Amino acid sequence: MTALSITYVVLFYVAMIILFGGLINKIMLYARVPAPLKIPVTPAPLTKAGVVYRIFYEVVFFNSLFRGSKWTWIFGWMFHLSLLLAFFRHLRYVISPDSFIWPLVNNMVVQSFGHYAGFTMVIGLAGLLARRILVDRVRYISSPSDYLMLLLIMGIGVTGLGIAYVSHTDVVQLKAFIMGLFLFDWQNLPSDNVLLVHLTLVLLLAVIFPISKLLHAPGLFFAPTRNQVDNPREQRHISPWGAELEAKDGRNA
Ligand code: HEM
Repeated sequence: MTALSITYVVLFYVAMIILFGGLINKIMLYARVPAPLKIPVTPAPLTKAGVVYRIFYEVVFFNSLFRGSKWTWIFGWMFHLSLLLAFFRHLRYVISPDSFIWPLVNNMVVQSFGHYAGFTMVIGLAGLLARRILVDRVRYISSPSDYLMLLLIMGIGVTGLGIAYVSHTDVVQLKAFIMGLFLFDWQNLPSDNVLLVHLTLVLLLAVIFPISKLLHAPGLFFAPTRNQVDNPREQRHISPWGAELEAKDGRNA
């Protein structure tokens, strides 16, 4: 194996351990943080099924962003939808052609939508960047990391398009490399520069993810303003540690 390939094998494992270890750690933290008060943003659902519907609607359509700002919604939704489509297209690098799901990934629809998603992803990100630069009140509250995250993901999108249009790579060998990581049967990585930049930015994203604003993805599910049922009159709200105190003292905590 080439020194370059060995380096990337090591980098991939380190980055994945940081990404998944960091994510699990943060999610466990979110799950433990007490939510002592009833604070759903109203009008809020009155039942648990309603809350599931509310979160589903929020995750799929970015409902509150739509109500807040139409421009941010257009670019934000465009970017996230493109990310999803690009994700489906990339599955062909990790799924074996013998697998029964291979036809679901390797077909015209997924591959074409996924490919054009590269363009809409970069357009969406450019819109979000322009918003940070051009809208005074957004610029005022933007920190360097807000810009850098956008530029990082934009870099991944642009280099991805670069591989597709300008500097092609050996995708068969690339797939062997990626599959080898899963099977612990390490293979050589093609050494094309644009591919190496694409992968290096992806690794950087993985390492930064658990300590970045991108944690809004799992965080949304733990937001008490969104995941609480609006029933404070019907049912007394008491946090777990409040209930413990109450049981111990025999008084209303
Ligand atoms: C280990 C992970 C990844 C590998 C091996 C990989 C590999 C590739 C390859 C080989 C292409 C060129 C496709 C072609 O020639 O038709 C590509 C394109 C692209 N990649 Fe990645 N990529 C990875 C992760 C990512 C991530 C995390 C993102 C987004 C944040 C991303 C976004 C894109 C985009 C937007 C394109 C252009 C659209 C396309 O033609 O597929 N990639 N990627």
